Amino acid sequence: MIILALETSCDETSAAVVRDGVVIASVVSSQIKLHTEYGGVVPELATREHLRNLMPVTRAALTASGLALAEMDAIAVTQGPGLPSALLMGLKAAQALAYAARKPLLGVNHHEAHLYSAWITGTPARAEWGSFAPTVSLVVSGGHTLLVHLRGLLDHRLLGSTCDDAAGECFDKTAKMIGLPYPGGPEMDRLGAEGNPVAYEFPRPLIDAPNDDFSFSGLKTSVRYFLRDHPGVLDQRKSLCDLCASVQAAIVDVLVAKTIRAARRLGAQCVTASGGVACNSALRRQLTAACSKNRLALRLAAPSYCTDNAAMVAILAERKLTQGAAPLPWNAEIKPGWEIA
Ligand code: KG4
Ligand code: ZN
Repeated sequence: MIILALETSCDETSAAVVRDGVVIASVVSSQIKLHTEYGGVVPELATREHLRNLMPVTRAALTASGLALAEMDAIAVTQGPGLPSALLMGLKAAQALAYAARKPLLGVNHHEAHLYSAWITGTPARAEWGSFAPTVSLVVSGGHTLLVHLRGLLDHRLLGSTCDDAAGECFDKTAKMIGLPYPGGPEMDRLGAEGNPVAYEFPRPLIDAPNDDFSFSGLKTSVRYFLRDHPGVLDQRKSLCDLCASVQAAIVDVLVAKTIRAARRLGAQCVTASGGVACNSALRRQLTAACSKNRLALRLAAPSYCTDNAAMVAILAERKLTQGAAPLPWNAEIKPGWEIA
């Protein structure tokens, strides 16, 4: 089966082609530079940029695949959740392509696509559905922090999510207070690697709570008070790196502890991590150590499939179509608040 997918839920315009579970073309046009001067994604600008980039990116993916639109078996698109006007650009483009080429159109949930992106491995990247053990998955992005229990492929149940800020949002907002450019997560990762993670103490919200939920807004507030009380900390590179490492450690400790606890409680054999924050080197290192200590297999999504991309949408769409998922009706709408069950 050959699928062309589009992804425009936030600030990446992406198109990809997947053939029989293998990613044969993946093009991502990032808008990060455009939004940096505003310190965050400006929906109106993101929308205009998607409009400008959608057709060039789609053409580039088809060219890279060596295939024509007429050779696709189906078109897939991120239907939600995400920024409404950004999602609309992707859905309308995908509907136009599907209509013109007379192909079925499948709507994919962005979080589900992140969730299953941990199964895309190797070069060329291929979906490895073969050994599907009971799994606990951490999906950590700029918009969401989810813990999910997978009993089988496409058989998943949401265990918990964040009550307020997402982990990526906490990285980005605290980084902004520290004076780092948007998006702050990668920058905090880079500076934190040079710092001492126990130099300053920050809270680990809900780490011992008897549930699978997260909360990061209190941590963000404690960084604000810390900066008010220690104004000189940003003047020296060493204390700046120590601060980044300490904030990062607080976020990562909570993510790792709660993921491992859920996996043990549910008797899972495997843990996965995906979504933009799963690029974080401290998170990857700590999860690797914790899984090894607890004899759990670990699947970390490849960094190129952690941040938003259409390949994960195409891979999931192919699997869903194989299992009989129904195509969208011609008048389908975006689903900006579409949560996974
Ligand atoms: O999955 P994604 O590309 O978009 C959403 O669906 O939100 O995730 C973007 C988020 C941003 O908050 C960004 O700061 C964070 O992922 N991120 C990181 C790292 N790379 C990206 N956070 C921490 N460390 C990183 N290395
Ligand atoms: Zn995402």
